[in-house]
Amino acid sequence: MSDDNIPLAGVIGTPIAHSRSPALHGQWLRRLGIAGHYIPMDVSQQNLETVVRALPKMGFVGINVTIPHKEKVLSLADSVTDRAALIGAANTLVFRDSRIYADNTDGYGFIENLRQGAPAWQARSGPAAVFGAGGASRAVIASLLDAGVPEIRLSNRTKARAEALRTEFGTRITIFDWVQAANMLDGATLVVNTTSLGMQGKAELRVPLDGLSPDSVVTDLVYTPLETGLLRRAGEIGCVTVDGLGMLIHQAAPGFERWFGERPPIDDDTRRAVLSG
Ligand code: ATR
Repeated sequence: MSDDNIPLAGVIGTPIAHSRSPALHGQWLRRLGIAGHYIPMDVSQQNLETVVRALPKMGFVGINVTIPHKEKVLSLADSVTDRAALIGAANTLVFRDSRIYADNTDGYGFIENLRQGAPAWQARSGPAAVFGAGGASRAVIASLLDAGVPEIRLSNRTKARAEALRTEFGTRITIFDWVQAANMLDGATLVVNTTSLGMQGKAELRVPLDGLSPDSVVTDLVYTPLETGLLRRAGEIGCVTVDGLGMLIHQAAPGFERWFGERPPIDDDTRRAVLSG
């Protein structure tokens, strides 16, 4: 590639300083010897459209989109994938031929991470218990339904948000009151925390795990710390546990491949680069 045609990508959101995506994409670019750049950009809601429309003219081949722009960018896209439409949000834009393509790879990243961290887990083997009904939960639920999970038990502090997801995603979802969320665990073969509980500086998800079978797989979307209180307690019971860092890495791979033309490696070096970046 000639020097005057160096591909640019990046991530837009606000705030953006905490994002691990520049460290992740940066190490992939270095390892693969690609002369590209991945740049964090703090963009306000007010400037979102102007910025997104200007980026392709500045040499950007695409971007990741994070909070609070994931929903709004859908309306700026010329083409939206089915999964982004279903989730109602996009995390990956591709700029090509003067068009904006929007996709959502969060659900893909979640399932890939789960399959890698818990290869014995079978989607059809039993119910999944999901804590939380926010944006991340939508992607998790869409991907679990797509994978063939027979039942999703859902509990959220604000019950109305869980009910809205049931209205949208259908009857394979059953809702549990937040105060009785422990009842979801009985017979569940997969447990997922999509809330921010357990994150550094936040309270732990304190649900009692008495009903949890050691055969269940437990995963947390929180990755700071890598081992949340939930994962530690589940590990003590004997469950296979899967941390949330892999979801971040796997959701990033399809965008990188489309922008820069190469499938990036996912291994321990990748994890180290994200953790130290
Ligand atoms: P994300 O895109 O990461 O899912 P979000 O849409 O803000 O972010 O959702 C955050 C999730 O964490 C929600 O399920 C939220 O519960 P509410 O819908 O009741 O707000 C959950 N959450 C955050 N703080 C919580 C707390 N202290 N107790 C229980 N749930 C909490």
